[in-house]
Amino acid sequence: MQSSLYCPFPQHVAIIMDGNGRWATRRGLDRSLGHRAGARSVRDVVEAAVEKCISVLTLYAFSADNWRRPRREVAALMRLFERYLMTETANCIAYGVRVNVIGRRDRLNCPLLEAIEHVERRTQDGRGTHLRLAVDYSARAAILSTVQQLVREKTVHATDFLARMNRTIHSDPPAPPVDLLIRTGGERRLSDFLLWECAYAELVFTDRLWPDFDDGDFDAALAEFARRDRRYGRVIPSTPAPTSGAGVEQDVVAEYQGTVSDESSVGAGRAY
Ligand code: FPP
Repeated sequence: MQSSLYCPFPQHVAIIMDGNGRWATRRGLDRSLGHRAGARSVRDVVEAAVEKCISVLTLYAFSADNWRRPRREVAALMRLFERYLMTETANCIAYGVRVNVIGRRDRLNCPLLEAIEHVERRTQDGRGTHLRLAVDYSARAAILSTVQQLVREKTVHATDFLARMNRTIHSDPPAPPVDLLIRTGGERRLSDFLLWECAYAELVFTDRLWPDFDDGDFDAALAEFARRDRRYGRVIPSTPAPTSGAGVEQDVVAEYQGTVSDESSVGAGRAY
């Protein structure tokens, strides 16, 4: 039986898209062709998220550590991102998808920066799924720079720190915490992706390589999420009060987003 915290649908889905290189190598192809095939899966999963009314979809496209890859592969990826953003803008507008790119921008090339600014500007009024592409992204760097910013401001009081931290880290525009994190490609790690935001995420790992990831796999991950018992550290009574579930969940979300006072928050020593 599901607990009182049963929530069948995730509001925020995040995906670590892994396995493009292996997909290509197994076919005797260049790794960059694996990334091209991966772009098709991106298109499909965005479409599926729109159909299922997922509020936020965050895709890990390029980590800060991916700069260590061969220069040719990095260049191919940057061109692919640029092309994807330019060609998908019209579709995103049509489907009400708002697009934002999270991560550092100062190391990206001009054509890609222009494509990012173009898609963000053109889709900013989208009221459907919010698509966030993480490019040159590191969760630890994001946390560190938020802390540095708050320390520099000096005016932030210690008790207000968690609330400000939450607000600042999700500022552009704000996103709820991750409910469901999917990683393809068989690895079982977070790889410096959304570490703060995934505090209570349900993790689903699949061996499927990203270019092969399809609607059926996405549905399977959503079904797995629906079966999970989300307790947020609490004990669930065996005969739950009918109204308690949503309250508890909203409570946790509110605290995460910094909309409750820090006295009652995680940072003030509440049980995990
Ligand atoms: C990891 O797989 C994948 C990446 C570093 C790039 C992700 C990029 C895409 C899915 C391309 C399309 C994206 C957009 C936004 C258009 P890997 O290549 O490391 O796979 P491997 O572990 O098999 O080598």
